[in-house]
Amino acid sequence: MRIEEWVVREHVGGAPDTDRIYEKTVRDVEVSLAPDEMLLRTLYVSVDPYLQGIALDTPIGRHMGADSIMEVVEAGPRAAHRVGDLVQGFGGWRSHVVSTGAAELWQTGTFPMVFPAYRRLDPQWYDDALPLATALSAMGGPGMTAWGTLTNYMTVNPGDTCVVSGASGAVGTLVGQLAALAGARVVGTTSSPQKADYLTGIGFDAVVVYRHGDSADHVREALWRVAPDGVDRYFDNLGGTVTDVVFPMLNVGSQVAVCWQWSTQVGDEGTGPRLLPYLMFPRATVRGIFSLEWFTEQNWQDLHTDLGGRVRRGEIVCDHTLHHGFDAIPAAYQSLFDGRAANRGKVLVRL
Ligand SMILES: NC(=O)c1ccc[n+]([C@@H]2O[C@H](COP(=O)([O-])OP(=O)(O)OC[C@H]3O[C@@H](n4cnc5c(N)ncnc54)[C@H](OP(=O)(O)O)[C@@H]3O)[C@@H](O)[C@H]2O)c1
Repeated sequence: MRIEEWVVREHVGGAPDTDRIYEKTVRDVEVSLAPDEMLLRTLYVSVDPYLQGIALDTPIGRHMGADSIMEVVEAGPRAAHRVGDLVQGFGGWRSHVVSTGAAELWQTGTFPMVFPAYRRLDPQWYDDALPLATALSAMGGPGMTAWGTLTNYMTVNPGDTCVVSGASGAVGTLVGQLAALAGARVVGTTSSPQKADYLTGIGFDAVVVYRHGDSADHVREALWRVAPDGVDRYFDNLGGTVTDVVFPMLNVGSQVAVCWQWSTQVGDEGTGPRLLPYLMFPRATVRGIFSLEWFTEQNWQDLHTDLGGRVRRGEIVCDHTLHHGFDAIPAAYQSLFDGRAANRGKVLVRL
């Protein structure tokens, strides 16, 4: 059979140049499964900003890893899943995968982590109101990140001012909507007036337009205008200038969730003011978010019931921007960095 893969050809930092980094390979292989192995066909592939770091840590010539939804098409007698099962796992940018589906240790440049074992998706959980693709958005990693943060760490109270940086994406839109349902006044940042309208349309109270390179003074003035009473909760997807501005706005007892630092990892913004003094007087708490810690069977069920129920009832909008076909994967990924104007919610590729 023919297996297509996108492999890493070069390690390139900064915003990804996918033409340089990735090469498509096609192999005709005779598949012969070990008793515990499966042959899986990829249905959906996720593209996410954090893959920038994964690509830098991927050995040259190895396929690109990524979250995906797969269907089991063949299975050995001792395989973890059966033919016809749908699973979600870190299958990567591959048309087909031969795997046991076991958890895999991944040594990043900075931190070891484990990609969890492939997870069976209960077909009864998905329908038109909560489509299968949500297993990579609200019912998958982004959903667990948003819901997990608000369930396990960040306590949002009615009247709180909650700021979400990088708010227009899969995680930020869910955090903002959950905080609004909890009674907070929610402020987001995004890069265009069109996306600002989108965010107010799904329940954000105010949006600040911020583009990489905008001055701190510009952001400060805009944020104080929409958050004159300061900031009680800050969900940080960007870091850099926006975070430099938010820290001095933190109120007593505030909480900060550090989900990603785009500006440091991709934008090469290495310096800024020293922020720790701004935590002292308001007695603020800062916590790093690493959502894999919440990937338990119980949490998946609770996520499905709680956040999934809200999506079903139309209380929470979960949008997808779908690209089509295996060859479209690098361009879909590049769109997270260079072509973001059209993206709404989770960006996915359907194979
Ligand atoms: N810590 C964890 O456990 C965890 C888990 C899941 C995801 N993450 C990370 O969390 C972040 C959000 O995930 P996501 O799925 O929501 O990603 P996403 O859908 O791609 O959204 C990314 C957000 O970042 C903003 N952004 C991107 N480039 C920017 C730039 N140059 N300047 C200003 N804003 C920029 C985008 O806003 P505009 O398009 O409006 O500019 C968008 O709102 C990602 O970086 C992801 O890797 C972390």
